[in-house]
Amino acid sequence: MLQQLLLLLLVGNTLASHFYGTMMTYYPKETQVDGSVTVVVRFKTAYDSCQYSNSWICSGNCGSENVTAHEIQNVTNENWCQKEEIMTRVLPNNTGFTLRFSGGNWINNIRNGVVLWGAVTQVELRNRSDTGKANTSPQTTILPSVRVPSNCPRDYSLLAFDPDGDEVKCRYGNSPEECANCNTPSVLTLSPDCTLSFSPTSTSNEGPYAVQLVLEDFPKQNISLTQTNGSQELKTTNQVISKIPLQFVLRDYFWARKP
Ligand SMILES: *[C@@H]1O[C@H](CO)[C@@H](O)[C@H](O)[C@H]1NC(C)=O
Ligand SMILES: *[C@@H]1O[C@H](CO)[C@@H](O)[C@H](O)[C@H]1NC(C)=O
Ligand SMILES: *[C@@H]1O[C@H](CO)[C@@H](O)[C@H](O)[C@H]1NC(C)=O
Ligand SMILES: *[C@@H]1O[C@H](CO)[C@@H](O)[C@H](O)[C@H]1NC(C)=O
Ligand SMILES: *[C@@H]1O[C@H](CO)[C@@H](O)[C@H](O)[C@H]1NC(C)=O
Ligand SMILES: *[C@@H]1O[C@H](CO)[C@@H](O)[C@H](O)[C@H]1NC(C)=O
Repeated sequence: MLQQLLLLLLVGNTLASHFYGTMMTYYPKETQVDGSVTVVVRFKTAYDSCQYSNSWICSGNCGSENVTAHEIQNVTNENWCQKEEIMTRVLPNNTGFTLRFSGGNWINNIRNGVVLWGAVTQVELRNRSDTGKANTSPQTTILPSVRVPSNCPRDYSLLAFDPDGDEVKCRYGNSPEECANCNTPSVLTLSPDCTLSFSPTSTSNEGPYAVQLVLEDFPKQNISLTQTNGSQELKTTNQVISKIPLQFVLRDYFWARKP
């Protein structure tokens, strides 16, 4: 009886509609003489309540999670609770890894029909020929929920910065691991320089939209990446070094509506 109740609670929990988006960035710390690399991964995840927690699944050269993901901050308002967490991994060498996050559900009534979530981070840590260091991902940040008045078309520049001096490009997620359902919001146009143009067509567009972006860094000149064992790979200016997710809810509401 108790077990059934627990099962129901668990099922209810996994199917609850509570997700408000996520983002993740990483930066390398010291490389030891034995070639082991420490990397710090920071991520923010937002839900409609602080009770929910996150589990990103690592694959590749995951090493050991030295300091387990720990919460550094909860930011709350009446609608959402955003957690900021840090994960530190110590890897035996500078081969990279992938972190994936999936589950359900986004908050209710997402206008672009997105229900389940999926997000992925590709961590590259090989030694760059231009900086003599491991790569750092693009840096960005989010608010879990962005409110935009539907009668005001406008452009939003997303913060997108790269400490290695790389070019950061934004695109919509387009594979099952980048977004469980990759429908893009009809009211938005995204340009690769990370400007989101909001151009609603009518008040019938009102409601929340899931915006599921991927940020990638491209070198501004050809570089090579060197593995701990000495093997090298060329990256041209058209090739991605790393990628991170940036996902949030955009709320289109009709501003100045009077009863
Ligand atoms: C964040 O919220 C959770 C759930 O309410 C709580 O257990 C945790 O202690 C909070 N963390 C911080 C850093 O306030
Ligand atoms: C890096 O370490 C992993 C263990 O996580 C090992 O499987 C892999 O062969 C190593 N790669 C190199 C290039 O040494
Ligand atoms: C793990 O973290 C602790 C505390 O931050 C640090 O003292 C220790 O050196 C770390 N271990 C490794 C293998 O980096
Ligand atoms: C990275 O390469 C530079 C030379 O390009 C070298 O000086 C440096 O020691 C290397 N760093 C690591 C961590 O291997
Ligand atoms: C970069 O590398 C590509 C592929 O090897 C090569 O075709 C191109 O000429 C290189 N560009 C520069 C500026 O060296
Ligand atoms: C280094 O490791 C990679 C992947 O583990 C392997 O493909 C490559 O052949 C190795 N290179 C050398 C020089 O050992």
